[in-house]
Amino acid sequence: MKDIVTAEKVSYIYGEGTPFRVVALDNVSLSVRQGRFTGIIGHTGSGKSTLLQMLNGLVKPHGGKIFIGDDDIYSSKKLRSTACFRVGLVFQYPEYQLFEDTVRRDIAFGPKNMGLSDEEVEKRVLYASKFVGIDEEILEKSPFDLSGGQKRRVAIAGILAMRPEILVLDEPASGLDPIGRREIFGGLDAYKKETGTTIVVVSHSMEDMAKYADDLVVFENGKVMMQGSKQEVFEREDELRSVGLELPRMTRLARLLAKKGLDLPRDIYTVEDALDAILRSASGGGSDA
Ligand SMILES: Nc1ncnc2c1ncn2[C@@H]1O[C@H](COP(=O)(O)OP(=O)(O)OP(=O)(O)O)[C@@H](O)[C@H]1O
Ligand SMILES: [Mg+2]
Repeated sequence: MKDIVTAEKVSYIYGEGTPFRVVALDNVSLSVRQGRFTGIIGHTGSGKSTLLQMLNGLVKPHGGKIFIGDDDIYSSKKLRSTACFRVGLVFQYPEYQLFEDTVRRDIAFGPKNMGLSDEEVEKRVLYASKFVGIDEEILEKSPFDLSGGQKRRVAIAGILAMRPEILVLDEPASGLDPIGRREIFGGLDAYKKETGTTIVVVSHSMEDMAKYADDLVVFENGKVMMQGSKQEVFEREDELRSVGLELPRMTRLARLLAKKGLDLPRDIYTVEDALDAILRSASGGGSDA
């Protein structure tokens, strides 16, 4: 599988030469595989948001390189300025950036700026709205009359409508209840499946990442501590725990029961996975059935 994003020995320091100097990224190398959902996890302050802002040309690393495909995006002005169309970045709390008088205009803002025809813009607005669960009648409303979760989904739709090659989101479900989280991640999952778009998400939730991510990158204190498929990373339970990251509760429960003799697979992440596997095990079907 092809790598579509590569960070090569990237470093970044805030407040260089001041008493507030902070090394946010220290020699970070990572890669994101095309068409996969990659979750970036790690403690607060470990450098996740700093890295994300480098992926679309916004923040230039102090050292190292960022590649999108084969392009070293900070090697020329042109590559850097086109990165924002290739990589759609959704900031944390993107709903604060809504500003148009209707939802339709807000979602249309990005594609309009790309110089697309009115017809194409409208098509994209409807397409993006579908994935985030925004019905057509909501398109005529003011974004300020919507609920928090709806506003968030409108903001995400505005980036989807630009049809970037890579979609990057910083904590897209933070502050939402379980239903709101499911609406966001379920929409992203469906979008990935239908369009094949590569998705990179920063999240604090192991449960969400266990459910939706294919690959994981673990940040710790400005460095990449581990990366690989979700299955590979979740085999390193002790190392994760040593930096205060726990596997999802269902995974822990299933592994505990397996130790006690139940025939359960190691890749159980959700209540549904657990129920299926326990029922299968109890009926003597075995874990591979
Ligand atoms: N604008 C800034 N000025 C100075 N220091 C900053 C700035 N932004 C981030 N930092 C510092 O850089 C380090 C990395 O921050 P960053 O926001 O990238 O971490 P994070 O992993 O996204 O954290 P969180 O999970 O809390 O969002 C932290 O020590 C943070 O305090
Ligand atoms: Mg952050």
